[in-house]
Amino acid sequence: MKQFELSTSRQKSTQIVIGTEIFANQIEIIKNNFGSSCLIIIDEHVHKLYPFVFETIKSNYAKHTLCIIPSGEKSKSLTQFNDIMNVALNAGVKRNTVVYAIGGGVTGDLAGFVASSLLRGLPLVHIPTTLLAMVDSSIGGKTGINHDSGKNLIGAFYQPELIVMDVDFLKTLPQKEWNCGVGEILKYGCISDQTILDDISKGIDKLDQTELLDLIFRCAKIKSDIVMQDELESGNRAFLNFGHTFAHALESFTKYQRFAHGEAVFVGLIAATWLSNKNGANLNMDKLLSQRETFNLQVSDLLEHIDELTDAMMNDKKVTGDLLRLIILSDWESPNVTEVTDLSVVHDSWKFALSHI
Ligand SMILES: NC(=O)c1ccc[n+]([C@@H]2O[C@H](COP(=O)([O-])OP(=O)(O)OC[C@H]3O[C@@H](n4cnc5c(N)ncnc54)[C@H](O)[C@@H]3O)[C@@H](O)[C@H]2O)c1
Repeated sequence: MKQFELSTSRQKSTQIVIGTEIFANQIEIIKNNFGSSCLIIIDEHVHKLYPFVFETIKSNYAKHTLCIIPSGEKSKSLTQFNDIMNVALNAGVKRNTVVYAIGGGVTGDLAGFVASSLLRGLPLVHIPTTLLAMVDSSIGGKTGINHDSGKNLIGAFYQPELIVMDVDFLKTLPQKEWNCGVGEILKYGCISDQTILDDISKGIDKLDQTELLDLIFRCAKIKSDIVMQDELESGNRAFLNFGHTFAHALESFTKYQRFAHGEAVFVGLIAATWLSNKNGANLNMDKLLSQRETFNLQVSDLLEHIDELTDAMMNDKKVTGDLLRLIILSDWESPNVTEVTDLSVVHDSWKFALSHI
């Protein structure tokens, strides 16, 4: 088991624990530190696959309230938020009721926002069950739901007390969801630790449990270190968006139907790395392109839509004024922000990515 602490100047510190078969023990610890009631918010698939999770938590509390969340992005909605609020308030939650968020990033973002706003803030425990949620979404305190105008537009920064990453949950993860995590893992390799790109080059499915645990630990630590420097994303936290402006444009142009987020991130990483080379870097594209077979994406039809994809980048919420601000690399592990004035380079980056994936 590996453990470390994420602390920020604005909020309490978070314990992050990573291991196998650690779930039950950690619940015991958290129970001893907070109230005797809990609100369990759990993804419906996870609830069906792992009935012992609910049973274990329930058996540790005098009073529990259960909310089962339909799987999928549609649950990050005001309607779902409101439904949970109704259930929780009718059940009489108190200031020391512990909120458990159990599932992938959807459940974590939604339940985190519930915890941040119920009675102005309840103690929160994340139990991420997808690779993406372990290496990325459960860490850093970004919580939120979607609005008709866009993704993640309603939310708060709210740090959990504890994040329990039990890699045993990953045994049932479908291939597409593994890829989502791999997209973000490659991002950490690009911006912070290029040995990750080498370690994952043979395919994440080839790692044994110890190697996988170590990889998750290193990624979680990278994110945690960046968040500790810049919790509210006024500086270096933006580096975590490497490849993401391309990815968000791809997701929004295809109406969130065709690509999972991590798949879009993979395309975005290729485009952003190629653009970095056009800005003077000398990065070996094969370090990323070697993952093509893992992702197995069909994207060549999108070559006809590069203008629309480039336009969609201008609608990203990270655009300020008319300037497109992108994260690029001057070398592996050396991200920086650039303001793009010549959109033809962006156009060519799309062309490279869509014709080489
Ligand atoms: N807060 C942040 O900093 C942050 C960062 C990145 C992404 N996100 C958000 O995360 C969300 C995506 O998260 P995600 O990729 O985890 O998706 P998700 O939560 O939708 O989970 C993906 C699928 O996996 C299933 N699942 C979960 N655990 C499983 C398990 N152990 N075995 C089998 N199936 C399982 C779920 O039911 C779902 O169908 C997006 O809403 C995105 O905006 C947030």
